[in-house]
Amino acid sequence: MSSKIKTVHGRRVWDSRGRPTVEVDVHLDCGNFGRAIAPAGASTGSAEAVDKRDGGTIFGGYDVTGAINAVNGVIGSTLAGMEVTEQGQIDQAMIDLDGTPNKNRLGGNALVATSMAVAHAAAAAENLPLWQYLANPHETPFLPLPEIQIFGGGAHAGRRVDVQDFMVIAVGADSYAQSLEWTADVYRFAGQLMSDAGLMQGVADEGGYWPAFSSNDQALEFLVRAIEAAGFVAGQDVAISLDIAATDFGSNGRYHLSADDKEVDSDGLSEMLLGWLQRYPIVAIEDPLGEDDADAMARFTAAAGDKIEIVADDFICTSAQRIASAKSINACNTALIKPNQAGTLSESKAALEASRAAGWQALVSARSGESEDTTIVHLAVGWGVKQLKVGSFARSERMAKWNEGLRIAETLGQDGGRLAPRSSFPWAK
Ligand code: PGA
Ligand code: ZN
Repeated sequence: MSSKIKTVHGRRVWDSRGRPTVEVDVHLDCGNFGRAIAPAGASTGSAEAVDKRDGGTIFGGYDVTGAINAVNGVIGSTLAGMEVTEQGQIDQAMIDLDGTPNKNRLGGNALVATSMAVAHAAAAAENLPLWQYLANPHETPFLPLPEIQIFGGGAHAGRRVDVQDFMVIAVGADSYAQSLEWTADVYRFAGQLMSDAGLMQGVADEGGYWPAFSSNDQALEFLVRAIEAAGFVAGQDVAISLDIAATDFGSNGRYHLSADDKEVDSDGLSEMLLGWLQRYPIVAIEDPLGEDDADAMARFTAAAGDKIEIVADDFICTSAQRIASAKSINACNTALIKPNQAGTLSESKAALEASRAAGWQALVSARSGESEDTTIVHLAVGWGVKQLKVGSFARSERMAKWNEGLRIAETLGQDGGRLAPRSSFPWAK
């Protein structure tokens, strides 16, 4: 069914950190509409699309009136009259309008919210849920395996520990619903252990506990204890996944570990992580080294990539081009796909396809600044991505996404949600 864009309307709404962000409504001639909200990162890679923020003193410089003016002005007038199902043409029109490599003229926040709202409007015009509109009708859909934060650190928690995300993956779960049930128990027991040990400080940006750990190792030990306290076999039922986010605490091959109060070089950091792989049931490590440390990433992947997922986030920034060059040196084996790092859905999909061409695994990921928007869950299911990372098992901007997965599973008529096939993961071999 042909349906043209009638109007594009941007407004300021507020994200999970209480900061302004961009919401976009795309209205169609046929009467349908789509809506999406831009997320925002804190530990951002330098090659990401950048958010357009007003600067100055209002709301700490985070206001987005410039980005909203771009949506209501030049973006809206260009997109009006375009066929809503032509996502590629629409995204390209916005890329051309912006004209910069990192979207700083109109703003990655303006572009990503518009791009996602266009997809929602197109799905509404076709009377389909977004995941189904995006899906290949010849493939049986499955739910992504959740990767869920239990402890937060790094830039999201005042640098109490260096590692940004201590997460779990319910590798042994039979269904999407069961993976959430298991994680709910681990999260609850982790909280109880923290309180009992007098370590509880609060909750980090993505909803994970923010305990007063004295070292990264202590956090890992508590995580194993929480998995076991919840009645699971660590590594077999529920395994550990880490986002080191090393770009945040080092560059030029030097890394400052504040929890351990020492500085290490690339090999020192790699050895520390390889040591953790010996001692803890870890199945994935994201950004083990800094975004500028390509050779060390490749050495680390050569050492551990056959056993675990080496996930690149800041290192590839959801860019098909950066993924191709990372592949040429085998710097990792898994791509994190964050639509707002790319700026449009078409570029995010191109990055996913590049990672598939490389023979890698992929995760769709939220950001540390989020909202009630659940687009990424639909992207994961629709694009057939096997894993999903949206932060912890608390706070409604996170739970909105986990819960949307449950609803999708139900509409699929799958009892709890058929999970992504796991045989191709390095840790499952
Ligand atoms: P960010 O954190 O959204 O602050 O970048 C998430 C991540 O590093 O994966
Ligand atoms: Zn990351």
